[in-house]
Amino acid sequence: MSVQVTSVKGDFVARISGVDLGGPLDQRIFDNIEAAFEAHGVAIFPDQNITDDQQIAFSKRFGDLEPSVRRHRERSVSNPYISDISNIGPDGNLLPENAEAMSYNRGNQLWHSDSSFKRTPSKASLLSAREVPPDAGETEFCDMRAAWDALAPYMQARLDGLVAEHSLAYSRASMGYDAGETFFDIEKAEVPPVPQTLARISPVNGRKSLYVGSHAAYIRDMDRGEGRALLDELLAHAANDKFVYVHKWSVGDLVMWDNRCVNHRGRPWDSQRYRRVMRRTTVAGDAPTV
Ligand code: OGA
Ligand code: MN
Repeated sequence: MSVQVTSVKGDFVARISGVDLGGPLDQRIFDNIEAAFEAHGVAIFPDQNITDDQQIAFSKRFGDLEPSVRRHRERSVSNPYISDISNIGPDGNLLPENAEAMSYNRGNQLWHSDSSFKRTPSKASLLSAREVPPDAGETEFCDMRAAWDALAPYMQARLDGLVAEHSLAYSRASMGYDAGETFFDIEKAEVPPVPQTLARISPVNGRKSLYVGSHAAYIRDMDRGEGRALLDELLAHAANDKFVYVHKWSVGDLVMWDNRCVNHRGRPWDSQRYRRVMRRTTVAGDAPTV
């Protein structure tokens, strides 16, 4: 087996072929994959028709997995380490637009980094496309290393040392989901607001990234309005096409991204007409950011 790595957008996004992620991977091949992932922030593996168990086994090579926050719900998947990113209910049919799971998953359409609402946020996510709509429903990825580098030096100096408060209830409420009402007590207890640094340093190569996203509610020790305005300004800065790669899905794509330096968001599609079934595994991080 010979792994081919192609850069898609400079040092952002690698396309990796010549590998079967469903089978055993020897250490040398895994090391190549890990290096490409760390250098590019996003790795795309086309033509991987893998099962949930194969996805879990490959994901675990990168570290321990996070269980899905929604594991206590009735879902169309039972394994707690698989996040069900789909518009399909437990009965196998399309969910109505107003279903709780649809409203919750709509939060994925805001720019974010997965589980930045946890004290120790995730390291990486792996998303496997099982069924895709004929058009739309892309996922966009933003290079937050490049977004940091492009900030004016005075802004970088201002952000260094600032801490934002991240909360899942906040990001869901901003899309109209009433977390106070709808979260189970067990979910509320799992995701209280947590502090995160705004300027994140890569443990791999020392590069800095801007660390903001939908879960960032406000900035500590700053006037609420001023902090909110700063967060909105930074989100708008990062959303520039220069930093963004748009992934148009094919069935069998597995895309993995580094939540420490990449933001992403899902794009809408005709969810009342077409099935879109994605399965996510999430690799836990090593330590809090502050
Ligand atoms: C996710 C996510 C977006 C999408 O799975 O973490 O944000 O396009 N998905 O489904
Ligand atoms: Mn996500």
